[in-house]
Amino acid sequence: MKFSAAASFATLAATAIAGQDPHRVCCEALGAEKQLRGKVLLPGSVGYDAQLNTYYSANAALHAWCMVMPESTKDVQATVKILTKNQCPFGIKAGGHSAFKGSSGIAKGVTVDFGHLNSTSYNPDTGIVSIQPGARWGSVYEFLNPYGVAAVGARTSVVGVGGFTTGGGYTFHSNSHGFSCDVVTNWEIVLADGSVVNANSNNNADLWKAQKGASGNLGFVTRIDQETVKGTLLWGGFTSYELSERDNVFVAYLDFVEKTEENSPDQAIVALYYDFTGFSIRSILTNNMGVANAPAFDGFLALSNTSSTVTSGPISEIIPQFTGPTPLGLYANWFTGMATNTLEALTIIDDLHHKYATMMQAAAPNSNFSTLVELQPVTNSMVDNSVKRGGNILGLERVVKDGPVLMWLVSLTVDTEENQKVILPIAREFVDAINKAEKKAGHWIDWVYLNYAWKDEKPFSHYGKDNIKLLHTVSKKYDHNGVFQKLRQTGFKL
Ligand SMILES: Cc1cc2nc3c(=O)[nH]c(=O)nc-3n(C[C@H](O)[C@H](O)[C@H](O)COP(=O)(O)OP(=O)(O)OC[C@H]3O[C@@H](n4cnc5c(N)ncnc54)[C@H](O)[C@@H]3O)c2cc1C
Ligand SMILES: *[C@@H]1O[C@H](CO)[C@@H](O)[C@H](O)[C@H]1NC(C)=O
Ligand SMILES: *[C@@H]1O[C@H](CO)[C@@H](O)[C@H](O)[C@H]1NC(C)=O
Ligand SMILES: *[C@@H]1O[C@H](CO)[C@@H](O)[C@H](O)[C@H]1NC(C)=O
Repeated sequence: MKFSAAASFATLAATAIAGQDPHRVCCEALGAEKQLRGKVLLPGSVGYDAQLNTYYSANAALHAWCMVMPESTKDVQATVKILTKNQCPFGIKAGGHSAFKGSSGIAKGVTVDFGHLNSTSYNPDTGIVSIQPGARWGSVYEFLNPYGVAAVGARTSVVGVGGFTTGGGYTFHSNSHGFSCDVVTNWEIVLADGSVVNANSNNNADLWKAQKGASGNLGFVTRIDQETVKGTLLWGGFTSYELSERDNVFVAYLDFVEKTEENSPDQAIVALYYDFTGFSIRSILTNNMGVANAPAFDGFLALSNTSSTVTSGPISEIIPQFTGPTPLGLYANWFTGMATNTLEALTIIDDLHHKYATMMQAAAPNSNFSTLVELQPVTNSMVDNSVKRGGNILGLERVVKDGPVLMWLVSLTVDTEENQKVILPIAREFVDAINKAEKKAGHWIDWVYLNYAWKDEKPFSHYGKDNIKLLHTVSKKYDHNGVFQKLRQTGFKL
């Protein structure tokens, strides 16, 4: 598509050059664009305030100069042309479920919010689902349910497709299908120059592969085509144990992970939790064919539990259970790292969790906060399924070469900004302490998952030389001027 500037737009661009306030220039140019009529939200408007309330983490809900709410690929093309022409700093938001300040919304610039680009369609002949980036996984599962298929998507309903899949996407189908990005057969992407391309194994194959993990570095992803999974049933739930069972739960988890078979439908997570009611430990066991109590879970099933919610049903009905309340607007912060699949590595994390959560509570006695530590594996079967489908840029082949590993997530959620000021520094010490202790014990592994990472954890720097090189090459080829490195201010850069 050729670039054509409206008269008013050219005038505004000229004013920008004359040194006008970029804030006004960018938002006025967007507002003057016919294609975007009614889709540019200004501060103080009802629509603008409503969008601010859609962010999971209050840290990420920044007051942009203005927000653009594209409703079509054409709208995104018009938007990017104006942003580049006027050198407007911008942020990208899809489902708004990344957590840190500057992860999606932007304060000094324009937030491009995909919230209204949220539809799903399915082709029963090909088995391919086409999803717009602003869709939430809950709506995708519900949409697909009548067709008897499921998507390789998030484990909670509220998470957005755009950030989740472009950043990788760990799912209940990962042992059997890889990450969410691995089942992507085609990305529709609006590039920095305003053109729209399809990237798949035949066309723009370098972009197809690089986008499997590149997040917002290469362009605006406007449609995601994925292979689906036959059958909709999922068995799973939360099972709670006495804290005294900790070592037995860890051993059951480690053994389960070591014995994971190729393409297994079974997966397990251990979740350690703290809030003002105390510490708790739970497992999340799932079978993505709906089979109850599969033999792989024998180790877990032999433990005595204090309560369990495991049940079987369509994934669209089971997923909301894992979502829980997930309230919006609290101060959420996520951190991640990797260690060996060993009892010592798990014990280090749990012991430090007890120490630091207690310190947080003492430092802010009247705060209402929680810490969640999730322990979940990256298995050889996951990585084999990635490679089989053309590969991604996560660089996990090296990581699992000696067997499955542990990916840990630390999530801190605080009620107020004042309490966060006190607690967050302690959470950061907690994360540093985990890395330090795992290094000292010889269990630290050099890998950081982008979708869980805190702003300074530099996920790409852990993905390996070849993948970094591919990302840079593809970025230079499809975004010569580095618009998504310079003007994009949110998320992670290369
Ligand atoms: C309750 C909860 C559950 C979660 N469960 C899982 C899980 O099961 N597995 C897992 O792997 N992760 C999970 N996550 C993490 C999740 O993958 C990330 O938070 C992800 O960024 C969410 O996607 P989003 O669209 O909601 O994010 P947003 O915050 O909207 O976007 C995050 C980043 O993605 C990029 N991006 C978004 N849309 C586009 C686009 N259209 N084009 C280019 N770049 C884009 C942008 O750079 C943006 O900075 C969970 C998070 C939460 C809060
Ligand atoms: C898409 O977004 C619109 C506007 O926010 C909302 O009303 C609608 O319910 C969403 N559709 C789906 C399928 O979630
Ligand atoms: C939990 O305990 C109950 C009662 O002993 C048992 O029937 C059930 O199988 C257990 N569930 C899990 C997932 O361990
Ligand atoms: C603490 O916060 C959680 C999450 O918002 C809320 O459900 C709970 O009621 C709060 N508890 C107290 C004691 O304020």
